[in-house]
Amino acid sequence: MVKDIEKIVSLCKRRGFIFPGSEIYGGLANSWDYGPLGHLLKQNIKKEWWKFWVQERADMVPMDAAIIMNPKVWEASGHLQNFSDELVECKKCHHRFRSDHLLEAESLRPEYDKGNPKTISEVKCPDCDGALTDPKHFNLMFKTFLGTNEDSATTAYLRPETAAGMFVNFKNIQTATRRRLPFGIAQIGKCFRNEITPGNFIFRTREFEIGEFEYFINPKDWEQTFEMWLSEIKRWWQDIMQIDMDNLVWHEIEDGERAHYSKRTVDIEYKYPFGVKELHGIAYRTDFDLTRHQQVSGADLQYLDPETNEKFLPHVIEPTFGIDRMLLVSLLEAYSEEEAPTSEAGETEARVVMKFPKHLAPIQVAVLPLSKKEELSSVAKEVANDLRKYFSVDYDETQSIGKRYRRQDEVGTPYCVTFDFESLEDKKVTVRDRDTMAQDRVEISALKDYLQSKYA
Ligand code: GAP
Repeated sequence: MVKDIEKIVSLCKRRGFIFPGSEIYGGLANSWDYGPLGHLLKQNIKKEWWKFWVQERADMVPMDAAIIMNPKVWEASGHLQNFSDELVECKKCHHRFRSDHLLEAESLRPEYDKGNPKTISEVKCPDCDGALTDPKHFNLMFKTFLGTNEDSATTAYLRPETAAGMFVNFKNIQTATRRRLPFGIAQIGKCFRNEITPGNFIFRTREFEIGEFEYFINPKDWEQTFEMWLSEIKRWWQDIMQIDMDNLVWHEIEDGERAHYSKRTVDIEYKYPFGVKELHGIAYRTDFDLTRHQQVSGADLQYLDPETNEKFLPHVIEPTFGIDRMLLVSLLEAYSEEEAPTSEAGETEARVVMKFPKHLAPIQVAVLPLSKKEELSSVAKEVANDLRKYFSVDYDETQSIGKRYRRQDEVGTPYCVTFDFESLEDKKVTVRDRDTMAQDRVEISALKDYLQSKYA
């Protein structure tokens, strides 16, 4: 795993994964735009997430809720009252910070006395050593207005999470799909939080995507269901995202630190280059959400068990995943620098390889004719176009073949197909494997099946 996040930021910009947002206007602090390869990588992560957590499960149904909901939703969920962070401002340089981040940074200092942690009033500004103001609460909800008037009657909010859409549609979905407990509702979507201190590249931004699901259960089953989801989460990271499991930290949140309604929460943390921080989480939220939405809306959200005739509000276990954080982890895990042999016998050169799991790689196949000459390029383009029906394909005919291999390694393309003058005669191409650099000579007529077998 790469230790220097700047290497990733620079590769992402250079190769078209992620650009600073609104760059030609001087940028917009901590906003990022996904370029062609970043978009493809994100699509692949979302596709795998969807397949693993929704499509392959008989107990999961999908939905896609509106981003702007009735403001009463956020009153019921508690976001309008409680979705805030403690903010302090430096009286000298006026930089603003989250109190918990400053205290966390203090706790990492060598002189930190674990038995006697500091309070925020004892901490100085990390930028200029100035005194800090008393902390005050800052609500993270993004406000907007509906229609032409801008007043309190038209105030609405961009959703800070996707969960609420699934709670308020619980009854609609349960009735329409005739589902029995246990079952889950899943969605992926954009969320917005007016973070006080965004940063660390795409780790903390004000606009990001979440994939999450609400799994509705009978409360008597919560413990075993929680364990089942924890082991599925392990399978996700091990088998699908294929990361080094030693880079994960399973943080059981203690009593007193959990949200008041949660009986168990586990934060899945990751050893980022900038410290161990949250990647995603899972929480047993009891019946808090449905109770609140039932109280505030007046709608009956109870479930009638057809076997026992028992009527009750289902409880919920919620695994939640930041899509952008998963993408960041996939970049960090994939990055590797190694020495590779050149065409000169016995010589090596440094290569950067993004060793994405094949199914996540933004480009699956690159077609590289050995020469730009029309007689080669016209047939090589035809091969590329045929493959495009099945794979994400890049076609590149500029510069030496060695440079083109390096370019494809740097964006993690698992297979490069080289078309040479012999290909015109024997109707075969050379397929090079990104990781082993081994080369196979393959009949053009069998190329699609050959590559498909590699992705099976
Ligand atoms: N419904 C539960 C919920 O929203 P959360 O921990 O507040 O839980 C879910 O957010 C996930 O979204 C986090 O685990 C993290 O992966 C991601 N996330 C949260 N805030 C983020 C931000 N400002 N930028 C990028 N990702 C963020």
